Parts: sequence; structure tokens; C-alpha cells
Amino acid sequence: APSAAPVVTLPDYTVFTGSVGVWSGQGRLQEEALHAKHLDYLRQAMSPLASQLPSWSKLDQLSKSNKVVLRDAFAKDSKRFDTYSRHFQGDRNKDISVLLDFSKNLIDEEIWATLLSLAKEAKVEEQRDAMFNGEQVNASEGRSVLHVALRDLDDDFKGKDKVEGVDEVIPELKHIRDFSEAVRNGQWTGYTGKPIKSIVNIGIGGSDLGPAMVCEALKPYAKRDLDAHFVSNIDGTHMAEALRVCDPESTVFIVASKTFTTQETITNATTARDWFLEHAKDKKHVAKHFVALSTNVKAATEFGIAKENMFKFWDWVGGRYSLWSAIGLSIAIVIGYERFEEMLRGANEMDRHYASTPLDQNIPVILGLINLYYNNFLGAQTHAILPYDQYMHRFADYFQQGDMESNGKFITKSGERVQYQTGPIIWGQAGTNGQHAFYQLIHQGTKLIPCDFLAPIETQNPIRGGEHHRILLSNYFAQPEALAFGKTEEQVREETTSKEDLDNSFLIKSKVFDGNKPTNSILFQKLTPGTLGALIAMYEHKIATEGFIWGINSFDQFGVELGKVLAKKILPLLSADAAKVDAEKHDGSTSGLIKHYLANANK
Ligand code: F6P
Repeated sequence: APSAAPVVTLPDYTVFTGSVGVWSGQGRLQEEALHAKHLDYLRQAMSPLASQLPSWSKLDQLSKSNKVVLRDAFAKDSKRFDTYSRHFQGDRNKDISVLLDFSKNLIDEEIWATLLSLAKEAKVEEQRDAMFNGEQVNASEGRSVLHVALRDLDDDFKGKDKVEGVDEVIPELKHIRDFSEAVRNGQWTGYTGKPIKSIVNIGIGGSDLGPAMVCEALKPYAKRDLDAHFVSNIDGTHMAEALRVCDPESTVFIVASKTFTTQETITNATTARDWFLEHAKDKKHVAKHFVALSTNVKAATEFGIAKENMFKFWDWVGGRYSLWSAIGLSIAIVIGYERFEEMLRGANEMDRHYASTPLDQNIPVILGLINLYYNNFLGAQTHAILPYDQYMHRFADYFQQGDMESNGKFITKSGERVQYQTGPIIWGQAGTNGQHAFYQLIHQGTKLIPCDFLAPIETQNPIRGGEHHRILLSNYFAQPEALAFGKTEEQVREETTSKEDLDNSFLIKSKVFDGNKPTNSILFQKLTPGTLGALIAMYEHKIATEGFIWGINSFDQFGVELGKVLAKKILPLLSADAAKVDAEKHDGSTSGLIKHYLANANK
């Protein structure tokens, strides 16, 4: 119930001041420190469900009545590519060039205009501005969402400065620079005076996937005589295999954990420390070999990390948006601080584009709206990210967390259950490998799978005179074409010469491609640090845009908690006996499984 604190009346809604930021059952908010900007955001957050917006109903109708057939759409409109493509170029780093072609989507003028109206009605711009201004858009956790501040090196976004910790970003970057340079140039030595040959990043989720993905993507810039390992899984195999190839005298362990409480990371870090001490014997040597990246200085200190070896970040950096923070230390070590900063600046180019470009020219907004159309109106359940660049082979893995942990939510910010689909299932892998694995289903299966095709114009490895790259790109261009336009039965018949085959209708029909499968093509100049930064930021903002429209909080992740809590309860049972398992009263299936394990574990 609302507290007895003063009442602030807003148009349409009543907001009660009192205890901190909790929605009441009736869609009311109790809030302690109200100020104008925050109120604006909250007013917005209480706006109707997306499905109650006028453009939503219109899109619902249009999706049923306007059946866009890409063959016809292109035949009728020779300018379709011009209408539905946008070019992004960095204004400070002109080498960042990204072309988005979204013409092979099942949209027409009316659908596209209505999608843009939906973004307006859902107040995407206001919510975006609130994020950049440091408002507590992560309302369930009472936090700002300011990963954009981590790459705002020229202080473009002023509103953020009121948030605690933002003024520490630059000094912390200097710390990253000093440490990464010392490791790279051999000034930082191990306890016996050897230069560092291996780093092991110990983290999971955002504290692993970001640095791991980027270190792969930017391998051409890597210091090749330094091995970087990423250990995430609690499965001891992951750590055991890394330690097998590391020398304790020349290895630095980077314990990457925002909370410094994550079971996998703390267990893996403890194992690494034990292994290290078996060799080094003396605890004082830990300082040369263990650093921590965390918001939890206290827990890192308790673990034994020296104060000067702590790289901090802040609660307004979400785990899946943290590679730009201290969590990027392994990236700075692998590619060098200058390149790391170039990546931050590349992301900032996209941030400025997202923050200030009209919706219909705004690349992350366009990507968000297009995906939303399939997700909410055409029944697509998944979305494939298909980079035609081997260096980007972990890009889809990275955005699997980025998108699914952000938008896999069923509660809106006003506490109501959504009446529509939210985040899609994200998956994918590097082309052309996928073509020989799952593309069959995309082409001829029964499911609608919108895809993003990404590729660089210039390869980092122009071997055989660039022949490999031309072949790669010919596939990159061919697949969206095949998906969009398919092959009719008539065409199959025209191509078939054998009379026997022509009479075989099963064969003929099996060779038909319906086409009309939607794709975005994202063609960028070269996978440089700046371009990668821009591409990552592009997807981050695409995800945020969708979350804004769905009215969900894309920045918390309570859905990962229940399993963690249950695992903690189950762990002691794995060293107990069947009677104890029964006493704990898990469900029959879980008890049965644990008892089967106990009966067979120590045979
Ligand atoms: O999976 C939940 C999660 O909290 C992610 O959001 C995060 O990236 C990961 O765990 C790791 O968390 P931490 O960095 O706190 O160890």
C-alpha cells in the first residue's frame, strides 16, 4: 500500500513518495528522491503496454492483409534498395563504415511507417535519452544503465555526470593502460622475474563472453607471443586444460566478476590460486599473478588480491555490457591499450548516432523495429546472426547473452504480464560453415527465421590474391538473394533436362525454394577495433530499443537466480546419502536423479 508520504500527481498517474522505487499493484510507484527527469522517465514507464498502442493494432492488421512478396516488391520498385538501406560512417573515425541493407524484409511503405510510429508512441527516444542521461532505467535494481559512459571519452553525454563513479572512468582506464602495457612490454614480471607469457581470464557470462569474443574478433591485432585463455565453466575440465599449458612463473590470472560472488568464477579462481601456490609456495607472490576486475572491492580483498591489482567498475555497468569496463582488461593486454581505446571510441561513434539520429535513419532502431515485426506479428521465434568473417565466430554467442538475458522477460516495468512475445532466441555461427549445417532449414524448412548477414569488404587475410575473400563474399551475397527470391517450380522445370526427372514431381517439388525469407545485410569496411566497437554498440542499442517498446526492463536478469539458489541447496546433498535427499523434499524427479547419482558416483 502507498505510504503516508507526500503525493505527487502526474498527468494520468499518481506517484507516491515514500520508500524507494517499488511499483504498487495498481501500477503506482513509491519513490523517495523524486526529480523532474526521473519523473518523466517514470511517467513513461507507466505508459500502456505496447499492444495497447494504436500502431500495434495497425501492424497486427497490416501483417495479415499486406502480404509482402519480395519478388514483386523488387520488380515493382527499382529504388527499393535505396529506400531501405542506410549508410553509417563514423564522424571522428571515418574508417568506420557500415552499410545496412534492410530492403529484403517483408515490409512495405505502410508497414515501415507504422513501425516508426510504434517507436514514437512507445517513446523510444525519451527512454533512450533517459538512459544516456543516467536515469535509473534499470528500475527493478534502482540503477542507471551507463555502459555508454565507459566509451564517452570526449564527454559527449553530459547528463551522465551526476551518477556516482562516472568521474572514475578515465582514471580507471589509465590503470588499465599502465597494467596492460607493463604486461605487454615485459616490465611486469612473475615471481621469479620471468616476463608474462599467458593470461587466464576467469569469469563467466558477460565477464567471459565479451573479452573472449573480442579477443577472437581482433586477433589480427593480438600480441602473438602471449597466450590468452578464457576459463568460464565450473566443469573442472575447463580450468584443468588451461593450467596444463600454463607456466605458474609466467602466468597472470585475471579474476573477472562484477559481483565477485559468482560460484563458477570464485571456485575457478580458488583452484587457480591453489595451483599457483603449489608452485610458488609463498602467498606474497599472489600479488604478481592475480588481479581482480570487480565492483566488489571487499570480496576481492578477502580473496587476497592486492589493492593496486584491482580494477574497478560500477553497478551501472551491466554484466553483459561490461567489456568496455575493467572487464576488458584482457582485451587491452591482448591487442594493446591503444586498440582497446579505438574500440571504445568506435562504440561511441554508434552511441552518438543512436542518441541523435531520427528514428527512420537510426540503424539500431531500424534493426530493432524490423526484428520486432517478425517477432510480434509474423510469428518468428528465433533470429540468426551470421557473420561472414571467421574472426567473428563468437559474435552470435556473445549476443545470445546480450539479447536473451536482456529481453527474455515477461513482466513489464509497470508490473503487468506482457500479452505478447518479447525477446527472440538468438543463435548463429560464422559463414560459410552454417551453410553446410543449418541453412537447409532456413531455406526450405517450415519456420520463419529472420537472419542478419554481416561481412567485411576488406579481409584481414587476403591470401591467394584475395580469392578466398571473394569466394566468401560471393556466398555472403548469394544467400540473402536465394532466401529472398527462391526458385519457383517453373524455374526448376526449365532447368531440368531429363524427361525422367521432369516426371518425378517429388524431385521437382523438392528443388523449389519458396523464397520470401527475410534478411538484413550488414556490410562493413574492415573488422578493425573501431568497427567492431560500432557493431557491438549497434546490437546493444537494437536490443535496448526493442526492450523500450515491449515496456520491459532489459537491464536486470532475475531469471538466472532460481537455478543458482537450487544448485546451492543441492550441492551438500551430493556428498550425503539417500535419506538426506528424501528429507530435503525435492520433487520426485530431482530426488530420483540425485539418488541415482549417489548410488553410482563412488563405484
Ligand atoms: O548469468 C547471470 C550473470 O549475472 C550475468 O549477467 C553476468 O554476466 C554473469 O552472471 C557473471 O556475473 P559476475 O560478473 O558477477 O561474476
